[in-house]
Amino acid sequence: MRKPFVAGNWKMNKTIAEARELVEKMSAEIKDVATVEKVFCPPFTALATVRDALKNAECGVGAQNMHWEEKGAFTGEVAPNMVKELCEYVILGHSERRAYFGETDATVNKKLHAAQKHALVPIVCVGETLDEYESDRTQEIVSSQTRLGLAGVSADYAAKIVVAYEPVWAIGTGKASTGAAANAVIKDFIRSTIADLYGAETAQAVRVLYGGSVTASNAKEFFTQPDIDGALVGGASLKLDEFVSIIKAF
Ligand code: 13P
Repeated sequence: MRKPFVAGNWKMNKTIAEARELVEKMSAEIKDVATVEKVFCPPFTALATVRDALKNAECGVGAQNMHWEEKGAFTGEVAPNMVKELCEYVILGHSERRAYFGETDATVNKKLHAAQKHALVPIVCVGETLDEYESDRTQEIVSSQTRLGLAGVSADYAAKIVVAYEPVWAIGTGKASTGAAANAVIKDFIRSTIADLYGAETAQAVRVLYGGSVTASNAKEFFTQPDIDGALVGGASLKLDEFVSIIKAF
């Protein structure tokens, strides 16, 4: 049985003080929800604060990105062991990083290997753009992002990876996919690609999330799908009542 998983990606939002205020309130509301793995991904600057404020709420904390190199002349970057000092999860290959910061399947793959080396749990994001969706290329894009992103990691580690299917056209637009459509992409293109690479057992073990305009009112539609194990939530994870309701929707 895969444990349900809900992660909040705060993107570039919240100062340390704002982050503390929000998670202190959330902590009290979600500390008793033991059936769902809950993960908060604030900006790097707020990781330690969020981790400490959530100490009693059995939540995980994750970074939104990292570099693949161990150290060196990479101004502005954060190394895997620095991330590992602060948290246990890391989002890799988010579409905003692909679109604005030149990330490719090749760099996602390097980061995934670095995450494996440092025993971080990666949340690997895949998803087609609106253009690709409209030209019927969802299968090609999602399958190849999955295949190239995961290339060469061990089967043991692959089973621990979290994949997030985030159609770019659904991110921040208020136009979520439907439960059935997202489930079909996850089952037919993501799990089947992982099955090709690592076998059916691994494909069934991997947790796959849906992300893109998830709210308290549509969360259940996704969470009741057999191949969707949870959500990667952007905007709604910044709102106390919304995010608590999403976590409790399982
Ligand atoms: P929204 O939930 O704001 O659409 O963002 C989704 C996302 O990008 C999570 O990583």
